[in-house]
Amino acid sequence: MARIIAGLGSPHAPAVGAAVDRKDEESPYWKPLFDGYKPMRAWLERERPDVMILFTNDHFTSFFLDVIPTFAIAVAGQHEIADEGWGKRQLPEVPGHTDLAWHLSRELVEKGFDLSVCHRLPLDHGSLSPLSALMPHVTEWPVKVVPILVNVLHFPIPTPARCFELGRAIRRAVQSYEDDLKVVVLGTGGLSHQLAGERFGLIDPAWDAEFLTRLETEPESLAAMTHQQLIARGGTEGVEVIMWLCMRGALSQRVRCVHKNYYHATLTGYGQVIFEDMESRDAR
Ligand code: DHB
Ligand code: FE
Repeated sequence: MARIIAGLGSPHAPAVGAAVDRKDEESPYWKPLFDGYKPMRAWLERERPDVMILFTNDHFTSFFLDVIPTFAIAVAGQHEIADEGWGKRQLPEVPGHTDLAWHLSRELVEKGFDLSVCHRLPLDHGSLSPLSALMPHVTEWPVKVVPILVNVLHFPIPTPARCFELGRAIRRAVQSYEDDLKVVVLGTGGLSHQLAGERFGLIDPAWDAEFLTRLETEPESLAAMTHQQLIARGGTEGVEVIMWLCMRGALSQRVRCVHKNYYHATLTGYGQVIFEDMESRDAR
C-alpha cells in the first residue's frame, strides 16, 4: 500500500528559482529563506520518498485564457521544463509516475473529482521554484513527481473547502494504490501577497503566522473561509494558499510540525513547513 508520510509547504515565486540558479543562497537578502530550506533538504535526503504529489498552479504558461481546468493532473512519464519567456531554466526534465497518476485520475473521477488529465504539461515556476530549492543542482531528480494543478488565477477558482476535500480524496486514492510507495505531498505558493491593484505589495506577517498555525492544528477552520476572506487577509495572490489546504487535506488529523520557517521579501510572504503524518508513522 502506498502511504503519505508527510506534507511540505514551500513558496514558488520565480525569484526563488532565480536565486538557486545564481547560487545566491548565502547573500544577506536570500539567506533567511534558504536557511529554511536546509532542514527540508536534509529531511528529503533522509526519508527518500518515492513520489512527491505536487499541488501547484500554472501561471498562464501551459494553460491560457482559452482553456483553464479547475483541477488537472499531469500523467506524463517526463514533465518538460517550460519556457516562461526568458528561456528554459537549465534543469533536467522532471520524472513523473504515470501509473500512480492514472490510478489517482481514475479514483478521483470515480469519487467525484473530475480532474483534467494532461498528457503533456510543461512545468513553470509554480513547480520548478520549489523543486529546485528543495533539491538544488541535481543532474537527475531523486523523486518522481505527480503534479496536480489548481486554478488559482482566474475566477471561478475552487473553494478552500473543495481544495481541502481534494486533498482528502487524494489521501484515500493513494492508500488504495497497491505498490508500497512512500509519498510526500507538497503545497506550493506564496502566503500573503498582492501583485496588482490598490493593495499592490501587501504582505501581512501576522496573518501568515496565524495561517501556518491554524493549518497545522485546525485546518477545517481555514477550509471554511471564503475566497473573499482569504483575500482580505492575505491579498489577491495570497489566495494561492488554497494549494496548501490541498496538502493539509491529504494528511491525517494528527500531524507534527517538525520544521517551520518564515521570511518575507520580493513582494511575498514565504512560508516553509514540514508536517509529519503521525498516523502513517504509527502504522509503520
Ligand atoms: C511572483 C509570481 C508568483 O507566481 C508568486 O506566487 C509570487 C510572486 C512574481 O512574479 O514575483
Ligand atoms: Fe504564484
